[in-house]
Amino acid sequence: MSFKVQPASPARPNRCQLFGPGSRPAIFEKMAASDADVINLDLEDSVGPADKDEARANVIKAINEIDWGTKTLSVRINGLDTEFWYRDVVDILEQAGDRIDQIMIPKAGCAADIYAVDALVTSIEAAKGRTKPINFEVIIETAAGLSHVEEIAASSPRMVAMSLGAADYAASMGMQTTGIGGTQENYYMRTPNGDNHWGDPWHAVTVAIVAACRTHGLLPVDGPFGDFSDDEGFTAQAHRSATLGMVGKWAIHPKQITLANEVFTPSEAQVTEAREILAAMAIATAEGQGAAVYKGRLIDIASIKQAEVIVKQAEIISG
Ligand code: COA
Ligand code: MG
Repeated sequence: MSFKVQPASPARPNRCQLFGPGSRPAIFEKMAASDADVINLDLEDSVGPADKDEARANVIKAINEIDWGTKTLSVRINGLDTEFWYRDVVDILEQAGDRIDQIMIPKAGCAADIYAVDALVTSIEAAKGRTKPINFEVIIETAAGLSHVEEIAASSPRMVAMSLGAADYAASMGMQTTGIGGTQENYYMRTPNGDNHWGDPWHAVTVAIVAACRTHGLLPVDGPFGDFSDDEGFTAQAHRSATLGMVGKWAIHPKQITLANEVFTPSEAQVTEAREILAAMAIATAEGQGAAVYKGRLIDIASIKQAEVIVKQAEIISG
């Protein structure tokens, strides 16, 4: 281990982040009643320019009046290249009460983007005497975001989470696809026997986000999967992200919530195995051994840490 110890990420359930357009208040109560751990009320790309003011007002009312239970409540503001974002921050922090937990900053490109929002938020919090500091989550969804992912992760003590935004990322990178996440039909290897072997074009950016988040104690989250009629595609994408270390995934339709919760809740079998590994290693350690055999395979001190990830995740989710 480096002398610089890896910080823990926030201990909260974050299996599913349910999105809804701020311009569609009829679904807010349904969002609040859902099984999603995190709610993202959107002021950005699901809201047309003509509806921005009304959406902002809807969102402020919803933060103040709806019972969001124990969910993490977040608002996605507009990008820093628009004329909308400062008004999003000012109106929300001046007019919404303390129930809001986070602001989501889309298309984060460098640490200075986060610094600018931090400066504005800090000033409004002081002026209004807000006592609960607002956290930040960001979306990595541009070439610049990927290039500067680590400085963005380290940019502010308000930072708690990072999501991958597949559609904007693909556009910014000039990728030849209109799909939002998942398998891309032209991304394959040809095997010697003539079969197509699918590759994962989201792999590199996913790993970059997970590494930046783990280095700086943030939650890495997989973003949207656009084809909400493809449950199997969603689940396959979510399994890949979970295997690479992400803690959750967005839902852009309510039917995706159960799918995400299933993948990102460690199964009973996984938790039982993790506890058995910890028990076996406790015996080995007591006997002065650094390694042991579990079900015919090697386990050692690293296995303790791997097993603890699963047990801790299960404990966070069960509260
Ligand atoms: N949250 C909660 N409930 C939702 C919902 C959401 N995001 N989207 C739809 N519902 C509700 C509908 O109101 C409907 O409820 P009902 O059974 O009581 O009538 C039910 O779920 C089924 O909805 P359905 O008819 O299948 O979908 P739709 O055509 O109304 O909406 C979308 C589909 C994709 C437009 C909508 O889900 C949506 O706006 N998603 C979020 C988009 C977004 O925020 N994008 C930004 C992030 S990428
Ligand atoms: Mg986007």
